[in-house]
Parts: sequence; C-alpha cells; structure tokens
Amino acid sequence: MAILIKNGRVITATDDYTADVYCEGETVRRIEAEIDPASVPGAEVIDASGKYVFPGFIDPHVHVYLPFMGTYAKDDYGSVSKAALLGGTTSLIEMVCPSRTEEPAEALELWRGKADGLSACDYTFHMGVTRYDDAVESQLREIVAGGIASFKVFLAYKGAFGVTDPELYHTLRLARELGVIVTAHCENETLIDERQRELLAAGNGDPGFHEISRPTLVEAEGVNHLMTFAEMTSAHVYVVHTSCQLAVDAARRAIDRGVRAWVETVIPYLVLDNSYAEQPGFEGAKYVMSPPVRDSSQQPFLWNAVRDRLISTVATDHAPFDFEGQKEMGRGDFTRIPNGIPSVQNRIELLYTHGVATGRIDLHTFVDCASTQAARIFGLEGKGTVAVGADADLCIWNPDHTGVISAKTHAMATDYSAFEGWEITGRADTVTVRGEVVVRGGEFVGAHGHGKLLKRVPTH
Ligand code: URP
Ligand code: ZN
Ligand code: ZN
Repeated sequence: MAILIKNGRVITATDDYTADVYCEGETVRRIEAEIDPASVPGAEVIDASGKYVFPGFIDPHVHVYLPFMGTYAKDDYGSVSKAALLGGTTSLIEMVCPSRTEEPAEALELWRGKADGLSACDYTFHMGVTRYDDAVESQLREIVAGGIASFKVFLAYKGAFGVTDPELYHTLRLARELGVIVTAHCENETLIDERQRELLAAGNGDPGFHEISRPTLVEAEGVNHLMTFAEMTSAHVYVVHTSCQLAVDAARRAIDRGVRAWVETVIPYLVLDNSYAEQPGFEGAKYVMSPPVRDSSQQPFLWNAVRDRLISTVATDHAPFDFEGQKEMGRGDFTRIPNGIPSVQNRIELLYTHGVATGRIDLHTFVDCASTQAARIFGLEGKGTVAVGADADLCIWNPDHTGVISAKTHAMATDYSAFEGWEITGRADTVTVRGEVVVRGGEFVGAHGHGKLLKRVPTH
C-alpha cells in the first residue's frame, strides 16, 4: 500500500510548510515540495489542498477495560479505537489498573487480551502498580523487559488502586533503577476520605459536592507528596490530569529544584467547569471525574500553561461510564458515581476549536501537546512527528469543517456525551495508521486488528 498526499500544509511541533508526502508500507518515505504521481505508480493520491497534515495524535492517558467502583467502563477496543481514529488519535496508552490482589503479569495479559486482535489503532500500556512486594517487583522487571516502559500509581482511591507510602517509595526506586517513568494520580486520599464522610453525614450527596470533597489543595498536596518522593529517589515522574494552578505550581516548583517531572492536563479541564457538575438534579453526575472539573477561573491558567509549555501534554483520561445504570449508582451519594468522562473522540476537535481557533495556542503547540511530547516522554519510537522514516501515522485535518458533537453520532459506547450539542471547528478528514487509511471523508474505514502493541524501551 502506498499513498501520496498532495499539497498539504505539514505541521509538526517545530515546522510549518507545504509539501507532498509519500508513504510506502508503514513508513513516510519522501517529503518534497512536489512529488510527481508518475514517479510513484500505484500509489493512492490524496489531495490535501487547504488542509493540514498533522502527525497522528497520541492519547497518553485512557481507560478502556476498567473495573471501577463496582462496575466496568463501557468501551472495548472495537469502539474506543474507532472513536479515537475518527477524532484523529492514532495511538493510545491505556492504564492497566489491577486490584491489590491481582498479580501484575496476569493483569497485563488480561488488559492486552482486550486490545490484541481488536484494536484498529496502535496501543501500549502504563503498568499500574497497586501493591509492592517481592513478587510484584520481579514481575515488574519482566514487564519492563517485555516493552512496557512506564508505571502508574494512584495516591488516591483508598482501599482500591491506591498505594501506601512504602509502596510508592519502592516503586519509584525500582523505576529509577530500570529507567522507567512513573505516572501518578495525585490527590491526598486521607483528606478526601474525611471530607466525603463529613459531607455525606451532613446530607450533602448531590454530584456538586464531589468537587468540594476534593478541592484544589487536596490535589496540590498529592503533587507535593509525589515530588518529595521523586526528589528522594531521583525517579522521573509524570503527573496525570492536573486540573488547577496549585497542582501545576507544585510540580513546577519541584522541576525548578531539579526534579525530573512532566505535567499533563486533560481536555475536560480546559473546556468544562464545575457549574456542569453542580446542575440541579442528577445531571451533574455526567461531569464527575477525579480530580474534579474546577471553577472556571482555573481555565485561563491551564490554557496559558499549555501555551507556555509548562504543561507538556493534553490527554483525555477517557473513562467511559453510561449515565443510565452506571453514573446512576451514585444517586444521593456522589462517592458512588463512577468517576470519568468519555472524551477520546473529542479531544482533538475540542483542543482545535477552543485552543487553535480561538488563538489560545498555536498550531505547533497543538501538535506538541497532543502528539509529540507523548511520543518523547513515553518512548514511542517513530511516532509524534511527520518526517522521512517516521511511521505513516497521519491526520489530514480540514480546518473549515464545522460540526456538532452528539451521543447520537459518536462512536464511543456511552449513552451520553459531556459535550452534547457543542459546535466544533475542524475535523480529521483522512487518518492513516502505519500507512493504512483508517478514516476517509470523516468515516471510519479501518480494520479491527490492524492496531499493534507498541513495545518501548526505557528512556528515563
Ligand atoms: O475520574 C477519573 N479520572 N476516572 C478514571 C480513573 C482515574 O483516576 O484516572
Ligand atoms: Zn486518575
Ligand atoms: Zn485516568
């Protein structure tokens, strides 16, 4: 299979030029001002005039198979990979989240089994560490040797995924030794527990109290905690889903004193605020995630931190639960609402509409935070840029397209969209994954099973 993309405006994290791009097999082979189709007989010619040619986007934080709060996240790799590709995302990094009693090696096999043979996009995993003992340590060594070069820890979710301080310390020590980066959900679980108890005892069970139970200080304490441990162990760390200035500032202070840390935010925090979760009745449950969506005053800070590249990546934390039957488990008790907002399909269109089209970020920042940095930080060789020799993962973007988001038309498995009725500008017209066209004219034409597990070597 060969493709010749004519007259597109190629945008990378650093470059912006008009060129023809020729892909053969899985790889970009030529990028030249003009490539004569006669020189590449048999290649499919795609006209990208007036369009951008971006590298395939990478979502470094998704949940697909997720046993959580007594239920399971709704997507499988059939729906999630289709949704990701329709949104321009060509690679996913999923969190493996075992229970404390599950063995890591078995958990990884279980999670992999959900993706292998079904995913239409490429994928890899952050290995969740939810317990630490000798057996876990030896399995983690094997898992890293097998190509999984990042860990995930939760400082929240007491009694479920959360690690103790000794476990955190030993995980970071091992990560340092192996050159593996540790991604971390940072919130102080004791403060959350106590707050939740007080609020429920006072009869405050509506979704709007979720944010009050875990305010920005709780998140910042989690980040400070992680940074102290990272400084003590010299481990490299990545703070997932930062939602507020206090948390980002805590990470930046540590970085300034030499801690090797990277910061992620996720699309819901950039475009939603807690007025959505505070709606009367139970509608707000659709917007319950952790850390919570914050007061709208946080948004300018977050956008500026993305623009100034203090926040390296914009992911989704896609965690899909139906409103009916799943979010509803928490009627009258917000602590029982499964946490998460489905957004894997919407990340790029929302980032473009609310970031690029409004002038909050430029095209290079857009590509950097949604693709290039994830590839660099997590060692995804051949991904995150448009270059000769790179994987032919491309997103041909039509900046003139306008559309409306709706659960009626989305490919995610959930029965609602957190962005129902929102207008968007721009669309992934054509998407390729390692040289195969998987989206054409905004329609999914990919093959389930084309996606492959991306093996990574430790780079930290
Ligand atoms: O609310 C969230 N974020 N749900 C998914 C699990 C996690 O904490 O990332
Ligand atoms: Zn989390
Ligand atoms: Zn998550």
